[in-house]
Amino acid sequence: MILSGKAKLAGVMGWPVGHSRSPRLHGYWLDRYRIDGAYVPLAVPPDRVEEAIRALPALGFRGCNVTVPHKEAAYRTVDRLDATAKRMGAVNTIVVQEDGSLEGRNTDGFGFIENLKSGAPGWKASDGPAVVIGAGGAARAVVASLLDEGAPLVWLVNRTRERAEELAGDIGNKVGGGAIEVADWVSRETLLEGAALVVNTTTQGMVGQPALDLDLAALPASAVVTDIVYTPLLTPLLTAAQARGNRVVDGVGMLLHQARPGFAAWFGTQPEVTDELKRFVLQD
Ligand code: ATR
Repeated sequence: MILSGKAKLAGVMGWPVGHSRSPRLHGYWLDRYRIDGAYVPLAVPPDRVEEAIRALPALGFRGCNVTVPHKEAAYRTVDRLDATAKRMGAVNTIVVQEDGSLEGRNTDGFGFIENLKSGAPGWKASDGPAVVIGAGGAARAVVASLLDEGAPLVWLVNRTRERAEELAGDIGNKVGGGAIEVADWVSRETLLEGAALVVNTTTQGMVGQPALDLDLAALPASAVVTDIVYTPLLTPLLTAAQARGNRVVDGVGMLLHQARPGFAAWFGTQPEVTDELKRFVLQD
C-alpha cells in the first residue's frame, strides 16, 4: 500500500481493537478497487472516546466504524443520527460531513438482512414468524431490522426474561407493522413450530463456549437458521440445522455486509461481498 498526500482516511475505533477484522476487510476492498486510502485500527480507551470522535474532522478522517464498547458513547457524541441509529441507541458508523459535523449511522441491521438475502436466496422476512434467541446489543439490530423488513411476528426469547422485555418495549415503541412477543426461556423449543426463521444472537456456540441449548425437532423443514457467531463458521446450531435439512446462513456475512455503507460513504465506491473476500477475512 503506497499512499499519496491526498489519501482518504477511515478506521475502526474500539477497546481493545486488536481482534477486529474490519481493517483486513476494508484493506481488501481498498486494494481491490485501487483506492488511494487507508483504514486503520484506532485503539481508544473509554475515557477518551468522546475526544477521539470529536478529533476525526480535525485529523482529516472521512469517518470511522465504532465497535465494542464505544457504540453507545458514539451515539451520544455525534451531531446527528440517522433513523436507524436513533432506534438502536447505538452507532457503528460515523461519517464526517462536508461542514465537518458528524453523522452517526447504524448498519448492523442492514448487514444482518443482506446476509440472509444473499445466503438464503428467496428468503423474505414476511415468510413467517421469526424466533430470536438472546437480547444483547446484536439482538436489538436483528429484531428491529426484521420488523422493518416486514416480519409479521418476532418471538424474543432470552435466558433473562427482563432483558427481552426491555428490548421489546424499546423497539416496539418505535416501529410499526409486525409484533414482538417475549416468551419464557423454557418455551423456546415449542415456539419453533411454525417459525420461518431462527436466529441465535447469544454467544453460545462460539469457540470456547458451550453450544446453544436448543433442540430443533419442532422446526419446519422450510425454516432458515442463522447465527451471528462466526467463529466457528458452522456453529453446533447450524450443523444441527443443516443435518435435518434446514437452510443455514453463517454469521460472517453480517460483518461483511454491515461494512458496505461505510466504505461507500468514505471512499466513494460501492464494494462487493464475494466468496474470495469471505475467505480472506476469515484467514488469520
Ligand atoms: P451484547 O454484547 O450483544 O450486548 P451480551 O450482553 O454479552 O451481548 O449478551 C449476550 C447474550 O447471550 C444475552 O442475551 C445473554 O443472555 P442473558 O441476558 O440472560 O445474560 C446470552 N447468553 C449468554 N450466556 C448464555 C447462556 N449460557 N445461555 C443462554 N444465553 C446466554
